[in-house]
Amino acid sequence: MPSTSNNTRIRLATRPVGNPAPDNFTIETVPSPTPAAGQILVKTIYVSLDPAMRGWMNEGKSYIPPIQIGDVFRAGTAGQVIASNHAEFAVGEYVTGSWGVQQYGLLTGPSEQGKSDEIRKVDTTIAPLETYMATLGMPGMTAYFGLLDTGQPQSGETVVVSGAAGAVGSVVGQIAKIKGCRVVGIAGDQEKCDYCVDELGFDACVNYKTDDLRKALKEACPGGIDVYFDNVGGDILDTVLTQIRRKARIVICGAISQYNNTTPVKGPSNYLSLLTNRARMEGIVVFDNAANYTSAAREMAGWIQAGKLRDKVQIEHGIKNFLPTMMMLFTGRNFGKLLLKVD
Ligand SMILES: NC(=O)c1ccc[n+]([C@@H]2O[C@H](COP(=O)([O-])OP(=O)(O)OC[C@H]3O[C@@H](n4cnc5c(N)ncnc54)[C@H](OP(=O)(O)O)[C@@H]3O)[C@@H](O)[C@H]2O)c1
Repeated sequence: MPSTSNNTRIRLATRPVGNPAPDNFTIETVPSPTPAAGQILVKTIYVSLDPAMRGWMNEGKSYIPPIQIGDVFRAGTAGQVIASNHAEFAVGEYVTGSWGVQQYGLLTGPSEQGKSDEIRKVDTTIAPLETYMATLGMPGMTAYFGLLDTGQPQSGETVVVSGAAGAVGSVVGQIAKIKGCRVVGIAGDQEKCDYCVDELGFDACVNYKTDDLRKALKEACPGGIDVYFDNVGGDILDTVLTQIRRKARIVICGAISQYNNTTPVKGPSNYLSLLTNRARMEGIVVFDNAANYTSAAREMAGWIQAGKLRDKVQIEHGIKNFLPTMMMLFTGRNFGKLLLKVD
């Protein structure tokens, strides 16, 4: 086994109130682990930054348990196998998983005896490693299943997506275009809006920070909205509700505008629009579709190869920059799928 350096890692120290701060985290360096029989050691290349991380820091019930105080901070990860005592994994192979914010992951592979850690081999000849964290990874799966299974867009319908230039939203809009829909994005920056229209082929994109959202949406969606894929919640969801069509489908994917609130989550006051329009609003959790990730990734890889689907990745550097990088998600300073390269 090659010698490895020490393992720098980040653990949750305390739970935040409002915006996370440095004293919520401990950064420490410990000897890097050694794989036992059935285990592999992976050198982390990328840590995925996801809005959900903020929710995992809170105590209380959610779709998965919170990160416990003292635990290595949970994160989607990608890396390269540097030592292996497992027959299915060879040194040099690239894998993705969820071994957290640390330089090395010690993972137990599948065996007859017990449960294995989450590890997926990825083929970097099909797409670069970054794409397996973006369109062919968790955000892409969220977009694919959330839009197609829950949003059920039909050709000719109008689909609106918020967080439109982000990891999930950009894929939602592109898949809706592939399905023959009129697509309108909502984003908080002109450069992001231009990218959605000029490069991703959206029909329009509204800047919620500078435009009158209600008026701009009315202009962009003159016949009303059939599918709204909501990544942000709050006032934007409330405004969209005023413009839905009969039998509209609203996919509740996330509510990033609410995650750092110190006051109760702001619910939609215009929800009676669901009644008058015989519409529905439904929440989704990507992990429910894990059994079907492979077939979805195959279809999306085909779209990538056909030039119909593309992703944008923003790479920041250094494990010690984890917190400021994560906070970029909440200020809109990320443009595309945000990754931290662990050098
Ligand atoms: N349900 C699931 O299984 C699942 C899985 C993955 C992700 N999600 C959710 O999907 C959403 C998008 O995630 P992502 O990874 O694709 O992130 P992202 O869109 O790449 O990044 C977050 C973006 O949110 C926007 N934003 C931040 N604060 C905002 C606010 N107050 N109001 C409106 N927009 C705001 C910013 O874009 P602008 O510059 O445009 O404001 C920012 O760039 C999140 O809500 C996340 O929790 C859900």
